[in-house]
Amino acid sequence: MCRHLAYLGPPVPLARLLTEPAGGLYEQSWAPRRQRYGTVNADGFGVGWYPSAGDRAPARYRRAVPIWADTNLPDLARTISSGAVLAAVRSATAGTSQDASAAAPFRSGGWLFSHNGRVDAWESLPADSGADLPAADLLGLEAHCDSALLWAMVHRRLRNGEAAAGALASVTRQTAAARPGARLNLLLTDGRSIVATRRGDTLWYRTGPGAVLVASEPDDDSDDWREVPEDTVLLATPGGVSTTPLHAAAPHREAHPTMNDRFTLDHRLPDGYLDRTLRADVTEGLTADPKILPPKWFYDARGSVLFEEITRLPEYYPTRAEHEILQHRADEIAAASGAGTLVELGSGSSVKTRLLLDALDRRGTLSRYAPRDVSPSALTEAGEALCRDYPGLRVEAAVTDFEADLALPDATGPRLVAFLGGTIGNLDTAQRAAFFAAVRAGLTGGGDAFLLGADLVKDPDVLVRAYDDSQGVTAAFNKNVLQVINRELDADFDPDTFEHRAVWNVPEERIEMRLRATVARTVKIPGVDLTVDFAAGEEMRTEISVKFRRAGLTSELAEAGLAVRHWWTDEAGRFALVLATPTPPPPLPPPPPPPPPPPPPPPPPPLLCP
Ligand code: AVJ
Repeated sequence: MCRHLAYLGPPVPLARLLTEPAGGLYEQSWAPRRQRYGTVNADGFGVGWYPSAGDRAPARYRRAVPIWADTNLPDLARTISSGAVLAAVRSATAGTSQDASAAAPFRSGGWLFSHNGRVDAWESLPADSGADLPAADLLGLEAHCDSALLWAMVHRRLRNGEAAAGALASVTRQTAAARPGARLNLLLTDGRSIVATRRGDTLWYRTGPGAVLVASEPDDDSDDWREVPEDTVLLATPGGVSTTPLHAAAPHREAHPTMNDRFTLDHRLPDGYLDRTLRADVTEGLTADPKILPPKWFYDARGSVLFEEITRLPEYYPTRAEHEILQHRADEIAAASGAGTLVELGSGSSVKTRLLLDALDRRGTLSRYAPRDVSPSALTEAGEALCRDYPGLRVEAAVTDFEADLALPDATGPRLVAFLGGTIGNLDTAQRAAFFAAVRAGLTGGGDAFLLGADLVKDPDVLVRAYDDSQGVTAAFNKNVLQVINRELDADFDPDTFEHRAVWNVPEERIEMRLRATVARTVKIPGVDLTVDFAAGEEMRTEISVKFRRAGLTSELAEAGLAVRHWWTDEAGRFALVLATPTPPPPLPPPPPPPPPPPPPPPPPPLLCP
């Protein structure tokens, strides 16, 4: 039951694969020549194709009628061309969905999947067969049938970073162990490579110049078809085919072969930018009264580790609160934005990004992730992991400082620009106005949206504890900035003579982190040719973390031309996630009234007669 095929190579009209070959999928739907079970495949069909080399989001056309009965297909097949196609004809099993939703290809993000075969009693597969899926996966099944369940089992493994061949082989093996009679010919593509298993039915492939076709059976009598042996996993690209016995299937985490094709890193910071900026910030900040340092210099390697640790502290709620909101709202956000590109400003390790990517992936709109950060190593590490886990995704990373250059990528579709974590609180009122205006200026009215995470005003005790934790992690994080300056500018700060302070500034509604000199000291900073005196008890401000109220933040955004469409908070109302879209620029103000006519000349002085 069922026949399927996948093709990679130069673009060809779909007809060349589906309807034209004498023994092709069209004919196989009523006269399969080598099919081992069943007779006709007349319960539906589907074809999925990648629109172009640059567009890895596959399109699908599926029907619940026999392929020969669809009178529209010949015209579509004649006029649609693609270099990456997966198609199937279906013979349904009793008790499964009978509509087009159960016709392969199944899809998630950039993947297309098909199953030729049958699993008996699939609804009661034991947990140890890998069918113990999370509720979200089960609720997300495209159809009520064994094939949709197998796809969910495969997809979970892909999401967890397994290589495609390993994932397909494991699911085939485990399912076969639980249901020895199961027929499990699985077929999967991301548009660049094809992975397939043969277990229980036939599988063949043929290679040509820069092309490969994998199919349940040969579509003509030429002798360049090769049969894949039973209990085998096949990995095919236009460059070659490899087959491995199922029991020896590919290692758990082999690198995805196309990973690096989809990752680009654009260095946009001018040479020496960070070094110059640090010098300017230190010179300016330490000669000011009171002394200040911008928070961005916390984040060297040690500072980044300490911040990660902060996010796990019991007192530091913002990360968990934002995570909670994303978990509940990611699908709503994806639906509201329909984004093809997710741009993330200050992405860091991109952890919560995955909740958004998953949601956009589920909607099938996502094709590109564009993280922006000052750290090339963070971008590379995160980018490569995401390429591995999201096989259809292009990652276009850029090294930038979002305060100087947002570096929004071109709009090839709706873009969602995300600025998460509450980092907006590091900017003062004037900096926020400039930042929001820059975001607005980069967005177009054609569906772009801005997603902002902002911490909210609350009980000052809770706030102060979040920034002055009992384990002293935040204190170490705060003092780390002194070590950064010592290292980068040869300074001689003694961190032990400074004390961590977290203060709630009532009128400004912000937490201020400060370092308080416990003794009078003179600090030398040779790198910027500076000597700085600290009086005993003097405080230097190292960070502001502004807390927001709904009305105030909404009007700040409105002022910049960004209308708040959604305002979501966590259950406890501690943190907000805001979705805003650009408003048209305000009409030009009416021209000023014409100047009043000049006053009449003063009357001539009366003639005084002598
Ligand atoms: C990364 C700026 C959002 O302000 O809460 C955490 C940084 N500083 N603990 C914040 C931070 C001290 C954090 N942001």
